Amino acid sequence: MTTSPTPAAPTTPAADSPLVRATRGLPVPHTPVWFMRQAGRSLPEYRKVREGVGMLESCRRPDLVTEITLQPVRRHGVDAAIFFSDIVVPLAAVGVDLDIVPGVGPVVAHPVRTRADVERLRALDPSDVPDITESVRMLVAELGPTPLIGFAGAPFTLASYLVEGGPSKNHEHTKALMHGDPELWHELCRRLAQIAGAFLRVQAEAGASVVQLFDSWAGVLSRRDYVRFVQEHSATALGAVADLGVPRIHFGVGTGELLTLMGEAGADVVGVDYRVSLTDALERTGARWPLQGNLDPALLFAPWNALERRVREIVEEGRAAPGHVFNLGHGVLPDTDPDVVTRVVDLVHEVSQR
Ligand code: CP3
Repeated sequence: MTTSPTPAAPTTPAADSPLVRATRGLPVPHTPVWFMRQAGRSLPEYRKVREGVGMLESCRRPDLVTEITLQPVRRHGVDAAIFFSDIVVPLAAVGVDLDIVPGVGPVVAHPVRTRADVERLRALDPSDVPDITESVRMLVAELGPTPLIGFAGAPFTLASYLVEGGPSKNHEHTKALMHGDPELWHELCRRLAQIAGAFLRVQAEAGASVVQLFDSWAGVLSRRDYVRFVQEHSATALGAVADLGVPRIHFGVGTGELLTLMGEAGADVVGVDYRVSLTDALERTGARWPLQGNLDPALLFAPWNALERRVREIVEEGRAAPGHVFNLGHGVLPDTDPDVVTRVVDLVHEVSQR
């Protein structure tokens, strides 16, 4: 699997934003910064609009999706909006019976374990998610020069939720299926790659400037198992938008051993969590890709001088990469003080000024 260069994108202001330029390895006025889970429980305005509305329902209401996606852009002045949705939204849209339980995560009513279960998983068609197209269009119009990042969950991470039936520490049923019935595993992942790819494509076609594929739990796999059981399916999902000229970010947690393989799956940017420094990530990937990351979200709770030191180090390390998008090593934690997040944005902009 090789990375093909991303075709030139249309020249809208968002397509020439610092974020998009950094993902293409072009010179930037400052290091662009956004945060995974920047929209969410850390913001009082989020908690207010979500009152009495279930998570899945809120993801399907364009008025709420637009408002929630814009909240962190208004408040923090980040360089990108991330579409407010969830990795399981497209699964629910093809009829999987699931819910997102507060404090827990996605819970699937009937775990997928047999061939009959896999065969019930149908393809996603854009007509299943007209609200997603509508939300993206509304957002792009509101955002103007600020780019919108669309996203999907990668086949492995989606498969883990489906097979385990919910969040899992050990992923034992997933690994048992993968190794015990590789043919069925690949069939499940082919279906999930179509769903993830179609979900990315809907967002990119409606105007998202960048997409991110979240393989949050891929870090529990060895390199060998990643190559044998996962990489080709993530490549299919990323390949679904290859012709649209939208840069693709590929991120996972604890994926220090997999960074090059994740780049080779067809990413334009490799996301790095906080367990590996950007300097080490650069060496491991041979500086072949711009990097995104990688402040430890827990450091947002540290005294400002300790946090400031770390932010400056990361900006400095990022200068050696072909491009750098500042982010956390995983999502904003719910109890984070939003004022600290705003201060980090200002600091990144200030110290990275070119
Ligand atoms: O701001 C953003 O990053 C955009 C929105 C976003 C959400 N989920 C909203 C959300 C994104 C990009 C996701 C992706 C997602 N969802 C991932 C990949 C990223 C990662 O964190 O690794 C995963 C694994 C999920 C599955 C999921 N959904 C989890 C683990 C949880 C948390 C459960 C909890 O309550 O702690 C969710 C729910 C969820 N998705 C929330 C938000 C804002 C919290 C629910 C709420 O506020 O009621």
